[in-house]
Parts: sequence; structure tokens; C-alpha cells
Amino acid sequence: MLKDKVFVTRRIPKSGLDLLSKDCQVVVWSDALPPERQALLDNVRGAAAILCLLSDRIDAQVMDAAGSGLKVISNYAVGYDNIDITEATRRSIPVGNTPGVLTEASADHAFALLMAAARRVAEGDRQARSGGWKTWEPMGLLGVDIHGATLGIIGFGRIGQAMARRARGFDMRVLFYDPTHPEEKDEKTQAEKLGLNELLARSDFVSLHAPLTEKTQGMMNKEALDKMKPDAILVNTARGGLVDQGALADSLRSGRLGGAAIDVSDPEPLPVDHPLMQLENLVITPHIASASHSTREKMSLMAAENVLAGLRGERLPNCVNPDAYNKTLHR
Ligand code: DGY
Repeated sequence: MLKDKVFVTRRIPKSGLDLLSKDCQVVVWSDALPPERQALLDNVRGAAAILCLLSDRIDAQVMDAAGSGLKVISNYAVGYDNIDITEATRRSIPVGNTPGVLTEASADHAFALLMAAARRVAEGDRQARSGGWKTWEPMGLLGVDIHGATLGIIGFGRIGQAMARRARGFDMRVLFYDPTHPEEKDEKTQAEKLGLNELLARSDFVSLHAPLTEKTQGMMNKEALDKMKPDAILVNTARGGLVDQGALADSLRSGRLGGAAIDVSDPEPLPVDHPLMQLENLVITPHIASASHSTREKMSLMAAENVLAGLRGERLPNCVNPDAYNKTLHR
């Protein structure tokens, strides 16, 4: 019997590929860069499963190109804004993601970025390497304190809460904004729920952990940035689309904000001549918040398990569109 074809849009860690290879015909896009649109359309042809990355746009055209045998789409990420979920649901195609396993690694990186921006780590590194380190300076590269400061967390899901736990270890006061969160106070971290405007006005650091949706797209626009405390620092490890990058560049250039530290941008990669890239008070990393060896192995396994469940016609262990199973809604 012919094995199901699974198209994997990039080489991912071994655990997932090994698992898939036992039962499937696995086709891996092995270039360092993602498949261009036409290559994606060509390679998904006849696939029963697509295991994709956040950099692959999976829409109706890709689903059409795969054909009517497409049974499951599995994203190697917890976020899934790269996939047209409405379209997949309409076609009864379940979509899987990788929640939970990357929570702690992502919060570790968000906190590392917060600290890097507060204590000017990247600037210090550049100065030391370029010969700018002449002597011990009483007034050189002064930063802001992390301990005792207030952290405002936007999006109090798994990663937002993990960020709050780290902040408590640094004696920070934690505030959060999340209309979907049922509690007014998080007992574990003593984090206090506030409206967005109040959170922005009271936080020394604002860290974004919300998904990118129609509602959150561009939520950190000029108006919101202007509501932040003077000299406050913005951290974004969620999605670039949450922030109006032009407005952020203006706020950083004028000194209205103290700094920003971002792991995500729109587009990715952020062009090296982008105005943000010219600013000393911006720290940027190339979307690596979940990039630890063990986390990426776990994501790989989880993404493969979603694929296998989908191919067997079972419910995905982690499905973002359970309505895909509701036969009365579509088709
Ligand atoms: C995700 O999973 O959504 C992250 O952005 C990458 O790990």
C-alpha cells in the first residue's frame, strides 16, 4: 500500500522526522530558506499532511494545490496566524500546533531581552568589541533597574504567566491586560489585572504575549506607545504585527521611550536598512525565543504526533480548530 505523503516545509529536529518516517513518505524541503510560493504549491501536491512553519503562508491556494486528499495541517509553532484557519475549518481539515512545550523557553528569552534592553547589554557588547571601552566610566552606559520595577504583561496566557513568574523572582510588581482571562488577580504571581490604558501608564516594562489576530494587529500603535511611561521599555516576543514599527522607531528615536527589545518583526527578517535597525536603543534577535535544543525537539515530536493523528483520522492531540470536526457546520 502506498504510504501517505507528508510535506515538511523545512528540516526540523530529528525526533519528529524519525517518527513520521516510520509510517509515511516524508518529503522535506531541505534548503535553508523557505520554499518560494511556487515551490510550496508544487511540493504540497498530493500531500495528505503538511507540516509547516510560521514563515509559510498556508491558505486556500495551498490547500487546493495539495488536493482533496489533504487530511491535516500541522504547524511547527504555537502561533498559527500564518494559516487560514477559517478555510481549513470549512474544508474539515484539522490544524495542529505545539502549545506548552515552548512556554518556558519563550519566557526565558523574553526576560533575557527585557534585561538586555534595561542594562544595555547589546550596546555594551558593541562598545567593548569596537574599541570604545576606554576605561571604567562612572556615567557610561547607565541603564534602568529591573528589580523593584513594574512589568505590564499584555496577553496573560501560558507564556505571559511564565514571564510573570520570572518577574516575581526579580521583585517586580506585575500587571496584566487580557480580556479573556477570568481572574482579577493571579494568586501565584500576585499579578493584577488592569485595563490596557492603565497598564501602559503604570508599567516600566511592557511585554507582549498576545496572539496576532484582527483585534490585536497594530495594537501598539502611536496612541498606545504615547500612553507608556516616559523612558519605558517595550519587549515583543509574540508577533511583529502587534506593533506599528514606524511609530515605535519614532518613539525610540525621539527618546520618548527608553528602549525596545524585539524577537519578532513584520516582515521577518526585518530589512537591515529599516529605521528600527539604525537605533542604538533597540535590541533585536531573529525570532529565536523557542530556540533551545530540547524545546525544538519537543516541538518537532508534537508536530509529528499531530500529523499522525490526522492521518489516522483521530483527533489531533493539539488542535486549534475543533470546529473542523463538526460536520454540521460545513460541507
Ligand atoms: C511560536 O511557536 O509561535 C513561536 O513564535 C516560535 O516558536
